[in-house]
Amino acid sequence: MLDKKVVELLNQQVNKEFYSAYLYLDFSGLCYDQGLDGFGNWYKVQAQEERDHAMLFVQYLLNNGERPVFAAIGKPEVAPGTVKEVLTEGFRHEQYVTSLIHDLYDAAHSVKDFRTMQFLDWFVKEQGEEENNADSLIKKYELFGDDPKSLYMLNSELGARVYTAPSLVL
Ligand code: FEO
Repeated sequence: MLDKKVVELLNQQVNKEFYSAYLYLDFSGLCYDQGLDGFGNWYKVQAQEERDHAMLFVQYLLNNGERPVFAAIGKPEVAPGTVKEVLTEGFRHEQYVTSLIHDLYDAAHSVKDFRTMQFLDWFVKEQGEEENNADSLIKKYELFGDDPKSLYMLNSELGARVYTAPSLVL
């Protein structure tokens, strides 16, 4: 049986991951709207990954005899107006999600819930990759964003991103 606080945070994480998908779909829409369809594609794929993350938390709860509790998903709390702002907010959001995963890990650790800690290990690594990706996008945009030809190529590169299912299977 899972600890009550751990269950509460796992349920909260389901909501936060679905919220992340909402947020990235919103970012995707802004990029498409501004003619940067490659950036739009990149965030759309990111939204699919976030939905997968939510489903992994749902499955983990079910695997441990807990019925998931669903709260309302809030509308995106930030309203970037430019692609640069989208990139900055994306990085900030991933740092926030990392802090949530760490809080959850901490809660599991405090009650010696090794099973949940092992489950969360995948997310700790994933967050490291997601923060790196978000930071790298900012750096690339700072380097190439002001030059139309370079921006065109960067946009094409991001347009090639395809969805792949998460490597974690429960
Ligand atoms: Fe599921 Fe980008 O955190």
